[in-house]
Amino acid sequence: MDETTSRPAPFPLRPEAALAPESGIVEVANYGRRRPGIIPLWVGEGDLPTPAVICEAATRSLAEGETFYTWQRGIPPLRQALARYHDRLYRRSFDEERFFVTIGGMHALQTAIRMVAGTGDEVAIPTPAWPNFAGAIAIAGARPVPVPMDFGQGGWSLDLDRLRQTVSARTRAIVVNSPANPTGWTASLETLRAILALARERGLWIIADEIYARFVHDPALSIDDRAPSFKDVMDEQDRILFVQTFSKNWAMTGWRIGWLEAPPSLGQVIENLIQYSTSGVPVFAQRAAVAALEQGEAFVARQIEAARRGRAIICGGLGATGKVDLPPPSGAFYAFFKVKGATDSRALALRLIDRANVGLAPGFAFGVEGGFLRLCFARKAEDLEEAVRRLAPVLEAGVPS
Ligand SMILES: Cc1ncc(COP(=O)(O)O)c(C=O)c1O
Repeated sequence: MDETTSRPAPFPLRPEAALAPESGIVEVANYGRRRPGIIPLWVGEGDLPTPAVICEAATRSLAEGETFYTWQRGIPPLRQALARYHDRLYRRSFDEERFFVTIGGMHALQTAIRMVAGTGDEVAIPTPAWPNFAGAIAIAGARPVPVPMDFGQGGWSLDLDRLRQTVSARTRAIVVNSPANPTGWTASLETLRAILALARERGLWIIADEIYARFVHDPALSIDDRAPSFKDVMDEQDRILFVQTFSKNWAMTGWRIGWLEAPPSLGQVIENLIQYSTSGVPVFAQRAAVAALEQGEAFVARQIEAARRGRAIICGGLGATGKVDLPPPSGAFYAFFKVKGATDSRALALRLIDRANVGLAPGFAFGVEGGFLRLCFARKAEDLEEAVRRLAPVLEAGVPS
């Protein structure tokens, strides 16, 4: 009932839907997206289009009439190609039955959450974190519980005792995003082992988001040119669901295709959840994904190289202003930095659009207080150099917020 009029609310909704927060990133992007000449570094994507060899596989599929419903778990050639890709990346053999094709990483995440957490449950999330974790958990009726990470000279770190203290009788899962968006925090094997030990001890699921695994910049953390993974430390019976996507490695954000990796024995459950949410992924997109896995390696190498260059430009350029705390991120392709003296990241992001014509994402959107901003450096060097040229004088002048 509407209290002021005592009439029924016109459009009554579940509170989980009605209260889902607007994304703080989208709000800032909407404020600035029409500005001529804006350098948009607010979203998590590069500036290169999907390689032609991937697009051609999709157009061939459509030309051949692959326009029908298909396998709920994903077409067999894609599941096989995913297994082969994992064999190469992790240097051991993977069963194709572990892979379930989804509408982007987001749908993999949503499916994972629906499997393990609902009303009355809690899910722990090391924070700052990509806001969609908390959003998807809350919409499922569960409670996202942030585990604040520490920020220091050496970057972000996760206090394992704090994580342990966060786990309650209601906790069902821990989200572990490594390398992380937005912080670039990349868990060592030792940290992954400790989280896994906690999960085993307390009977928890791990939702492992390792979508930035190929973007590891700290050589001390790198294993065969990829980040440490739960795959390096887990057993077959461990309760781990991996969220994955084609979006970042192969510049396919607009295609909306990803995958969930799970124990094969959960296949029927996952198939049912896919049936009752999206009813599968378009075949032409799946054919494109096969091409990405089998012919996209040179492009991935280019993306990684561009991110490394971008990281050096941004960390060097903004660091030189002396106005930001910006420890070089160990992984992913974001700089998440604190503007000294600033307290309101939303006001700061809007002001930088007005004064520098550069679009950055405000830290509050990732669940952190203070003057933090996220900058995506997966872009060509000229844009990033120009962004530094524009931002530096504004930062040096002191940004009131
Ligand atoms: C940490 C993380 N996980 C998952 C995703 C989902 O990617 P998508 O739904 O575009 O495939 C993103 C996208 O930004 C991300 O940053």
